[in-house]
Formats: sequence, C-alpha cells, structure tokens
Amino acid sequence: MNTSQFPSHVTLVDVGPRDGLQNEKQAVPAADKIALVHRLQAAGLKEIEVTSFVSPKWVPQMADNAEVMAGIARQSGVRYSVLTPNLKGYEAAATTRPDEIVVFGAASEAFSQKNINCSIAESIARFEPVVSAARAAGIKVRGAISCAVGCPYEGEIAPERVALVARLMAEIGVQHVGVADTIGVGTPLKVQRALAAALQHYPLAEVSGHFHDTYGMALANVYASLQMGIHTFDTSVSGLGGCPYAKGATGNVATEDVVYLLHGLGIGTGIDLDALIDAGQFIRASLGQPSGSRVARALLAKRG
Ligand code: HMG
Ligand code: MG
Repeated sequence: MNTSQFPSHVTLVDVGPRDGLQNEKQAVPAADKIALVHRLQAAGLKEIEVTSFVSPKWVPQMADNAEVMAGIARQSGVRYSVLTPNLKGYEAAATTRPDEIVVFGAASEAFSQKNINCSIAESIARFEPVVSAARAAGIKVRGAISCAVGCPYEGEIAPERVALVARLMAEIGVQHVGVADTIGVGTPLKVQRALAAALQHYPLAEVSGHFHDTYGMALANVYASLQMGIHTFDTSVSGLGGCPYAKGATGNVATEDVVYLLHGLGIGTGIDLDALIDAGQFIRASLGQPSGSRVARALLAKRG
C-alpha cells in the first residue's frame, strides 16, 4: 500500500467553542466556554476557534465574545481565531487581540444571503477592508467557503463556484481558505474536486477541510483530503455543533474521531486523545448531552 502521499503531521483547528456552541439553544455560560478552551489547549490543540463577532440578534450564543476572549489564559504557541463578517465585527474583535480572524463567504448565493444577508460579490466587498485592516495589524486572515459541495437551498454546487470564491478571496488578500461542507452531503470524490478547485488559487499548506458530519461521510472525506496532501482540518471536540442557517446540519466531524484516525495512520497531531476526550466530556456535561464522538464513547466505555 502506498501511503507516501500522506502528510506526516496534521494540524487540527478545534472549532468547537465557536461552530460547536453557536447552534446551542441553551445559553452556555462564558466560564464554561473559557474552561473548554483551556482544556483544549491542555490537550495539545494549537489552533482554537474561540468565538464570533457577529450580530447577537442573529446568533445570541456568541454575544459574550469579548468576555470569552478576555477570560482565556493564553498559552504560547496556540493560535486563537474568531469570526468577523464585516468591519463592525472586526473592530470589536481587534480589541480582544485574536491571532487570526476568519471571514466567511459561500460558494452558493442563496446561502450567502441566508447566512450573512448579502450576495457573494457584496460579501467580498465587505471582507476587503476587514482583510486589509487585519493584515496591517499583523493578524492572519482565513476565509471559509461554505457550501463548497452542496447547499441546503441550491443543491449540488459545482467546483467552479469554489474556484471562483477562492480566487476572489485570494485577490483581496485572504491568506488561507477552508473548504466547508456545511451540510455534510459531500462524498470523497466531490470533496476532492472542491479542494482541487481551491488549490487552483492557494498552496497546499493554505487549504483546509471543514466537514460537517451530517451524513456520516466526514471521516471518509478527511481520508480523501489526506490523499491529496491536505494537512489542516477544522474539527469539533465531541462533534459539537451545526450552523443556525443550515437546518438539520449536524456538528463538525469530532476531533476525537479524526485524532484516532490520524494516529492509526501514523500521522502526528500533538494531541493527547485522553485529555481531549475529557475536554469533550466537560462541555457535554455542561450541555447535558452525550458525546457525539464514536471514539470518545468507545474509549469511555473501556474506561468503565
Ligand atoms: P445585517 O443585518 O445585514 O447587518 O447583518 P447590517 O450591517 O445591516 O446591521 C444590522 C444590525 O446589526 C445593526 O444593529 C448593526 O449594528 C448590527 P442595529 O442598528 O439594528 O441595532 N451588526 C452587528 N452587530 C454585532 N456584530 C457585528 C455586526 N454587524 C452588524 N459584526 C451580519 C449582517 C453578517 C452581521 C449578520 O447577517 C450576522 O451576524 N450573521 C450571522 C452569521 C453567522 O454567525 N453564521 C454562523 C457562522 S458561519 C458558519 O457557521 C459556517 C462555517 O462554520 C463554515 C461552514 O460550515 O460552512 C464558518
Ligand atoms: Mg461550520
């Protein structure tokens, strides 16, 4: 078997505190969000998506963004990112000293309207001053391309749409793009085509996979991405989450499940799986929910 194309190390960005919690109806105390970030960094996560600076009317769960950012005892070598949809969000975020900001667009016009209330072209125009300001301040800029394989409103999305948004993001100075399967409909070949489209405008190190696991395909899609050499993935501890503007979409692929897969393939992550499982148990206990990670459930059963 030829696995020489696999990366030797993979970086996981835990998006649980943001993507994971944004969809929870019950208010999660800021202290629990902060404690979750602490547990994730203690487990070895080097990139954590903490919160978003969006309208609290649209996403009430993220209204405590500044409080959460202020409460984190930062660990050196860890990158803390936040979502900023527009200049207002960026200005609020900047006071909290994020290491990275995320502008989030979509490969589908309908989803762009539902999620951020503007067209794809308008979103790029809104992102442009955000990207300039962030880069001038030395803050890294990531872009998310939602609905990169399928859209809840438009159905299947052609890879050309992904290439177009990747090009538009590259033109305004976005340094990294995440290819997002928002509703988890992707299967490996479709995901590879979407990634290949992004790779027309970004190098391998600056393209990541962001796969929601609604149809149970996310691990297969991670594997297919690894075959292309992709070595950065957004994952969510215990599989928390979903998008408020993609009805029925479940959480991101669980970080625990991806860590188990990667370690089984001999690929390093720097993450301690047991400590990660404990982080997942902590937040699920706060929510009163069982873990969404198969690996966590299996290993917890073994712990007895
Ligand atoms: P809008 O209504 O078009 O904005 O919303 P506006 O500029 O017309 O302003 C309307 C009001 O919102 C004003 O307040 C603004 O001050 C306020 P009012 O005068 O009515 O009191 N406002 C803000 N407040 C706080 N922070 C801001 C902000 N901007 C305006 N940044 C907006 C546009 C983008 C703000 C809105 O549509 C929004 O907040 N959407 C939320 C989108 C969101 O958070 N979605 C989930 C995250 S994305 C995701 O999950 C996908 C991802 O995981 C990848 C994937 O899986 O696909 C990344
Ligand atoms: Mg997402």
